[in-house]
Amino acid sequence: MNLPPFKLERYFAKYEFNAEYLLCSSDCEAMSIADLLALEEDAAEKFQNVWLGYTESQGSPALRKEIPKIYQTIQLQEILIHTGAEEAVFLFMHAVLKAGDHIIVHTPCYQSLTDVARSIGCDVSPWRAREENNWALDMDEMRKLLRPNTKVVIVNTPHNPTGYLMSRADYDALHNFVQENNLLLFSDEVYRESEYDPTTRLPAACDIGGHAVSLGVTSKTYGLAGLRIGWIATKNKKIYESMASIKDYTTICNSAPSEFLAEVAMRNRGKLVERNLGIIKANLTVMDEFFTRYSSLFAWVRPQAGSMGFPKLLHGDIEEFCDTLVRQAGVLLLPGTMYNDTGNHFRLGLGRKNLPQAVERLEEYLKA
Ligand SMILES: Cc1ncc(COP(=O)(O)O)c(C=O)c1O
Repeated sequence: MNLPPFKLERYFAKYEFNAEYLLCSSDCEAMSIADLLALEEDAAEKFQNVWLGYTESQGSPALRKEIPKIYQTIQLQEILIHTGAEEAVFLFMHAVLKAGDHIIVHTPCYQSLTDVARSIGCDVSPWRAREENNWALDMDEMRKLLRPNTKVVIVNTPHNPTGYLMSRADYDALHNFVQENNLLLFSDEVYRESEYDPTTRLPAACDIGGHAVSLGVTSKTYGLAGLRIGWIATKNKKIYESMASIKDYTTICNSAPSEFLAEVAMRNRGKLVERNLGIIKANLTVMDEFFTRYSSLFAWVRPQAGSMGFPKLLHGDIEEFCDTLVRQAGVLLLPGTMYNDTGNHFRLGLGRKNLPQAVERLEEYLKA
């Protein structure tokens, strides 16, 4: 296994805990354990009594009973809990892929969606989101990427970093293509339930058939990244069993306190979503106004879902711009180059409460 440095995580490691304003976070505003426990009358007392032994490797039954409520047809035994979505990505790739396999990946993307497969010796074809099409994917382009050794298609919708949400027609065409060609679909749905218009929400891939694996996590839409609780949902027993078996070599089981807190969170996820979407929508208004004022400096494709957008800096070099901004004004933006993007874009985070103050600081910097 030969894993390259994770560019985005290394960039964050440099600045995340010393920049005054994080204006590029992918997760929504977090909360304290006390605030989470306050969502249920007896949760604080129950939390005190959580047993600190090993937990069930597949995840606690109580948590696995809550998660299927996000889905239509998924049962408790079709949920496998992981330490974050990141562990699930790693285990999926190791369970399904071998050297010489080919995969097609929605690009730009969270780096592990390509690089874990590359580290196994797979060929990766990027399936590119196009800015000129409002970051949509072209179904014909995907069809042309098919090879005899293609095994998996990976999509991420709602998308990190563009906030693109696939149309229902394209989504159906994608599932048909995967099924017709006996492929697997790994559907990274960690931003699901953050659609600005709930009628645009897509069905979870795992509900459509055993060709698909859905990835979920408490970190993003629900704003609880510190729990490090992610999961896969799938009707595909073979993949489920292989991932469960490899998990014995990574984390064995999850953190018991986190599983309890995640159970409370998922039972109350409606409240968490309402709070976080409220923050995102208020921030979108601030950003729409900002980009109207600065239309000569930036181009902005408004996201349709999630806690991010991927605007373009029209003049100058994006890495230099982000570097000077964080050093001189304490505002962190993430250059698109961390995703190997060559279009001078940067990631903008929409999920944090202090976005208006961060934008004020950015504006002072631009005016100086
Ligand atoms: C698309 C996508 N998938 C997976 C992950 C990993 O999530 P986590 O850090 O909660 O494990 C992220 C995190 O940014 C992400 O954006």
